Amino acid sequence: MNQSGESRYAPGYAATLLTLGAAAIHFAAAPEHLSEYLLYGILFILLGAAQVALAVALVVAPSRRLYRGALIGTLAVIGIWLMSRTTGLPIAPIPWRPEAIAFPDFAATLLEAIACLVFLVRLWRRPPRRRGRVRVVLTTLPAALFAPLMAFGGVGGALSPMPAAYNTAPFVAGQTSTSVVDLVAPDGNQPLKEFTLTAAPTTVGGHSAWAYNGTVPGPELRVRQGDRVKVILINHLPAATSIHWHGINVPNEMDGVAGITQDAVAPGGLFVYEFIANEPGTYWYHSHQDTMNQVPRGLFGSLVVEPNGSTPTVRDYTLMIHTLPNSDAVAVNGSANLHLEANPGDTVRLRLIDAISAMDFGPTGTVQMPVLIGAPYTVAALDGHDLNQPQPLGPERIPLGMGQRADLVFTMPSAGAVRLVGIRGISPFPWSSPTNASVTIGKGPVPAVSVSSLPTFDLTHYGVAATDPVLDATRFDVTRQIVLSGGVPMFRNGTFDVADTFNGQASPLIQPINVRLGDLVRLHIVNRSRTTHPIHIHGHIFSVLTKNGRKITGSPVHLDAILVGPGDSWDVGFVADNPGIWMLHCHVLIHAAGGMSMTINYDGIYTPFTMGTASGNIPE
Ligand code: C2O
Ligand code: CU
Repeated sequence: MNQSGESRYAPGYAATLLTLGAAAIHFAAAPEHLSEYLLYGILFILLGAAQVALAVALVVAPSRRLYRGALIGTLAVIGIWLMSRTTGLPIAPIPWRPEAIAFPDFAATLLEAIACLVFLVRLWRRPPRRRGRVRVVLTTLPAALFAPLMAFGGVGGALSPMPAAYNTAPFVAGQTSTSVVDLVAPDGNQPLKEFTLTAAPTTVGGHSAWAYNGTVPGPELRVRQGDRVKVILINHLPAATSIHWHGINVPNEMDGVAGITQDAVAPGGLFVYEFIANEPGTYWYHSHQDTMNQVPRGLFGSLVVEPNGSTPTVRDYTLMIHTLPNSDAVAVNGSANLHLEANPGDTVRLRLIDAISAMDFGPTGTVQMPVLIGAPYTVAALDGHDLNQPQPLGPERIPLGMGQRADLVFTMPSAGAVRLVGIRGISPFPWSSPTNASVTIGKGPVPAVSVSSLPTFDLTHYGVAATDPVLDATRFDVTRQIVLSGGVPMFRNGTFDVADTFNGQASPLIQPINVRLGDLVRLHIVNRSRTTHPIHIHGHIFSVLTKNGRKITGSPVHLDAILVGPGDSWDVGFVADNPGIWMLHCHVLIHAAGGMSMTINYDGIYTPFTMGTASGNIPE
């Protein structure tokens, strides 16, 4: 047997496994990179091939020189990776732009770093000439368990990467189609209401926030039905942003969805939104770029469209229920104990908006259960749309999912105050208790009531039935089922994820619902998850048809979000009368970002915008 130093090395099985794991991840990432930029893709293939060659050599021809080369080579790979994540590389889809760290590159780098440690140990301590089988197995076992696991995660992630440029409705050559950017408000001489909203970092109650015009919630925009509303968004944030007009059927280009109806407005940039406020009611506006993070930071506000020709209510208050910036604590219009003025006999309209947006992993999502104590009240409108002949309620709790609104109308009693209670913050952990908020209207005592024992308002039989073209329709042009599921394991956006899905698929890869202008569309929404989901549509209004197969019997109900509880199914219908590419998503922001987000695509409409890493547009 050759006793020279060079051949004393035993095969390095552990290092081989670690290196093969990294190679597998590089091969898996190559197709995506090839499509981005040919040279970059080739780099990954060469790297994978070099690592396979090294892995083979470590078994068949281990030597001190090989270990030294392996160490230097692998350190160089880690160095290049570090460079790509900090300064960027000259050979890359966008030269010298640092890339984001995703699970696959983390996994590959970790495998390489451990391999380097193995190489070092081998160089430092000469392994014994002969190693017993047991010893070989014991030293290889950790790598044999760890390397395949990391490779599985890394390869899975690399094969389902964060999309670089995902288009929800691409232009098809040879087809006549209209771009979403041409879907704007028609000219006209409606009275003009102009606002400027400057989005900028600020501090609110000692917390850092992102806000419109320095306040959280942002300024209330009040207009009259029929006004032409013009809003100039100026972005002074360190990130790109946008504004969506929640519940208002704006022309598609004004919908504010980054990556679908516009590019997110870059820092320093501006965008002018313009639409006609046709429908009176309570609405709100919020960022629709990186929504999951930007709304909780404070980028939201209310928008009220007052009805034409009616005498205004004596007291008309908008109450935004929201979490304080970067906090789980609840507030109404920024305060935990809001006091509002009203005199005995005044008619009061409270426009409640649920804008609770912090993380909530609990079973109710962000559902609020506000209830008014001290006076009977009617639910005059839901999601801004009047109900037909609403009757006064004793105290009943009004379920409101995130994004939903309810207008409560009551008369101030001859003595005592009226109080809105049942508003609670987020409890991020099972053991933490949520904060509460209340709103007191008028002065004096309020009767004591045990809120949790009060009945819950049911919109399926409230008010008086009336004709409604969608509710009364006997046939629909398009019928689609949407099954909601939570906790679905899958690889998504470059990593292993527990996704929230529509029909088993997660955004952005959910098949769109295709409609034609004028179609009557029916959605059958079934919740098979353990959480409540407010399913929100852009650009259209749902007519509620059935709950759990039973047709609603009271007033027609028109909503832009339907609250679907665990195990429930709801049918809703709408008229496809507003051409464009429109989002349909759960309004619990972590659910939308977690996969529950899709689009309704009109025939003959395309978008030039893409979401993903290339444009930086992240609609959820
Ligand atoms: Cu209130 Cu898609 O949003
Ligand atoms: Cu949800």
